[in-house]
Amino acid sequence: MIHEKQKAFPENFLWGSASAAYQVEGAWNEDGKGPSNWDLFVRIPGKTFKGTNGDVAVDHYHRYEEDVRLMAEMGMKAYRFSVAWTRIFPQGKGEVNQKGIEFYNNLINELIKYKIEPILTIYHWDLPQALQNEYGGWESRQIVEDFTNYAVTLYKHFGDRVKYWVSLNEQNIFTGLGYRMALHPPGVKDEKLFYQVNHHANLANASAIKEFRKYVPDGKIGPSFAYGPAYPASSKPEDILAAENAEELNNHWWMDVYAWGKYPKAAWNYLESKGLAPQVEEGDFELLREGTPDFMGVNYYQTTTYEQNPLVGGVTEGVFNTSGKKGTSQDTGIPGIFKTVKNENLERTNWDWNIDPTGLRIGLRRITNRYQLPILISENGLGEYDKLEEGDVVNDDYRIDYLRSHLNTVQAAITDGVEMLGYCTWSFTDLLSWLNGFQKRYGFVYVNQHEEGDHDLRRIKKKSYYWYKDVIETNGENL
Ligand code: BG6
Repeated sequence: MIHEKQKAFPENFLWGSASAAYQVEGAWNEDGKGPSNWDLFVRIPGKTFKGTNGDVAVDHYHRYEEDVRLMAEMGMKAYRFSVAWTRIFPQGKGEVNQKGIEFYNNLINELIKYKIEPILTIYHWDLPQALQNEYGGWESRQIVEDFTNYAVTLYKHFGDRVKYWVSLNEQNIFTGLGYRMALHPPGVKDEKLFYQVNHHANLANASAIKEFRKYVPDGKIGPSFAYGPAYPASSKPEDILAAENAEELNNHWWMDVYAWGKYPKAAWNYLESKGLAPQVEEGDFELLREGTPDFMGVNYYQTTTYEQNPLVGGVTEGVFNTSGKKGTSQDTGIPGIFKTVKNENLERTNWDWNIDPTGLRIGLRRITNRYQLPILISENGLGEYDKLEEGDVVNDDYRIDYLRSHLNTVQAAITDGVEMLGYCTWSFTDLLSWLNGFQKRYGFVYVNQHEEGDHDLRRIKKKSYYWYKDVIETNGENL
């Protein structure tokens, strides 16, 4: 649809930015914090770009007041951050660490002081290592109880002031990279275990949402799903079927469970025939149905294009570009199901991520049609090299172009009828990119932090900072 006139962004639209504890906080072993799986994983040689870690990250733990002040000056309406489970329960369960509660209380109060809506992510990948050691973390159903207890602790302490909650961040990514590709902790490659781990995460998610209703009845909660809408490479029916397969196995496999408490049929049957379907116990589906969300959180970065992949001799494992050298990624696939191909219609970033604003609109429409849930864009942004020029200037016009084009399609989706709660860019300040060090930057605020050497971590507003400020001030009229 080409609209003659776009609808305005809704009043009270949550113009925001997002971050994650491990990527910004630092202070990895201060004030009673216990070690997380990431604290240990990054110390294994060869796991991250130039061995970078989040020990200091961008030191948000000590500089949150300055960071919030910068948000306030920009006029930001919402800030999505995650809580480090290991600050609240250093061993994953047991005694609450009051210092951890204090830190997030201070952060939340600081945000509220400036009328910035806090959006709290309960879990953004940093699992207490103690739980990994005790029972394999997500590998055991025991995680459901411990995760729920952790979530309820957060509801009790922060639910009076925090009304927007994200349960799990990108469950599809942390389970996939952790148990399928061995790129994230615990660095395992085991298809069967991956589906089982993911089922436990579904149960934990539903259980935490179910409890939420008791403790924060006036709040809203949902997961943040990393949605990469699937495109067929051509109009060949086999390629269209490959894209359908991808949509079902890579997207509906998660979103159907969130929204409806059930797995999609063809995907389930396929996995069952391969002996890969998760083991389900009595009462599981009931719990999944009882813990459905108020909104779908969407982290959108790109679409993926698929074509048919032969059953014999088909493409399997691909290669991830974590170096920032364009063209170093390789396609991946599942024989007999699909394989990914480069979409020649789209530009790519230096990390080979497709730039596709229209894909966002397509994704928003698909979610609206299938689930009829409001949507919070909980992440969208461009990771690129930035150049700090003389006089502390960063001219990141490419980031402005990226965000503007995506916001244009968000507005088009709103005009289409999609119910949008808000839009959080990834990210506000620069931060540690899990596998890519500090050179892949996302923020409106440059942080003088690098892979090597000691740096002063000073904050510098980029050109995009002023652009977003104006967008917010005009409620999206000046894109
Ligand atoms: C999302 C995550 O997958 O993408 C973020 O929720 C992450 O934590 C972001 O940083 C960008 O990914 P990357 O690999 O470029 O840091």
